[in-house]
Amino acid sequence: MAQRETWATRTGFILAAVGSAVGLGNIWRFPFVAGEGGGAAFLVVYLLFVALIGFPAILVEFVVGRRTERNPVGALMELGGGAWKYIGGVFIVTGCVILSYYSVVAGWFIRYFLEGFRGSYASHLAGYESAAAEVGAPTTALMFGELSTGLDAFVLHTIFMALTIGIVALGIRRGIETATKLMVPGILLLLVGMAIWAYTLPNAGAGYAYYLSPDFNVILDNWVELLPAAAGQAFFTLSLGMGVMITYASYLGEDRNLTRDALTIIGFDTGIAFLTGLVVFPIFFAGGITEPGEGGAGAIFISMTDAFATLSGGRLLGILFFGTVTIAALSSAISLLEVVTAYMIDEKGIERWKAALGMGGVIYLLGVPVTYDLVFLDLLDLFADGILLVFGALVLMLLVGWVAPKFAVEELSKGIGDLGGLGQAWIWAVRVPIVIVLVVSLYLGLVDY
Ligand code: PHE
Ligand code: NA
Repeated sequence: MAQRETWATRTGFILAAVGSAVGLGNIWRFPFVAGEGGGAAFLVVYLLFVALIGFPAILVEFVVGRRTERNPVGALMELGGGAWKYIGGVFIVTGCVILSYYSVVAGWFIRYFLEGFRGSYASHLAGYESAAAEVGAPTTALMFGELSTGLDAFVLHTIFMALTIGIVALGIRRGIETATKLMVPGILLLLVGMAIWAYTLPNAGAGYAYYLSPDFNVILDNWVELLPAAAGQAFFTLSLGMGVMITYASYLGEDRNLTRDALTIIGFDTGIAFLTGLVVFPIFFAGGITEPGEGGAGAIFISMTDAFATLSGGRLLGILFFGTVTIAALSSAISLLEVVTAYMIDEKGIERWKAALGMGGVIYLLGVPVTYDLVFLDLLDLFADGILLVFGALVLMLLVGWVAPKFAVEELSKGIGDLGGLGQAWIWAVRVPIVIVLVVSLYLGLVDY
């Protein structure tokens, strides 16, 4: 077999991992969860969970990937022996399922991005008003309920998957590393620019107040729901439980300080999530929307677009915002397809471009039903995000924490030196608290399903 690829530079690896981590979880979900969950008080809880759960868990995926230089199936087989490969297979299935609907959702953002050029944010607002006034809204109106499924959604899903497949087919260096080297700085620049713009908007202060005013009572009153949710978000936001970080670390090819890389990646992920809140909430309050969290993801699309329709300069701001979300979604999607592609290359000896195209095609077909009916989105999401992902993560933590802890500590210390008591502290964090959190999440996921 040909020599396995590696990242060209350390920065390339970090940016690719940041590109995976920064996605809809940061730019869509996080600000609203924080806004509703007690503002600055929630931030403290969230940071605690990222530090106590996310940080040890990302290190687990890193050491497994770097040591085995393999995709998740091969990696688990090498570490645990024959039967573990079936469990590694869970990561591959999770990646396929999540990417199938992630691509459809990303298509919605492309649509909103394109509609900005046609100047339809205002007609969106008008469409809702007239829909409320009379039956039979204007067909030109940009309405979330109509565009989330149907031919347009299908076409945009096709385009998004084609882009994802194209980048992954080009390989680690020429494809993923090059693409994320452009995309991640782009995301950061756009967000900083928009945050500055948002600061100048009228009523921005009310937006900051909604987002950041610390309310510890919200946390004290709701900790039963809030703690598992915060733990789940810590996993999702760092792209854990899908084998992404195993796969990306498998292309490292040299021993460097993984702890430092993990901290850098977590810093970027958290920073970008926080920054997005500084963009989104001033825009809402300037646009006259004072209950931004109400009504879930679809409603957020609508109220965000309403705000863009109302603001002067809102059209350009909207194009920039939806464009940024699209880029962030693309840099996450390629990491999911890479997990599946790496599996086909390593285990089945298939050429990269064929693997990317073939598996990308299967994932694409799996997503098509979602463009017909959003029922499939909820089904796939509950199953993959609520159960498969948590199960995969749990098994990996058990394997590393209880079956192969010695290898793990030894691998982590490469490029750092003697870890002293910290190595054991890390293993115990993996063995008990993370396992408890995952078991509780799995239970909740199964009940939900
Ligand atoms: N980490 C991404 C986010 O926060 C989600 C994701 C998970 C993307 C796994 C790819 C793989 O949006
Ligand atoms: Na994230």
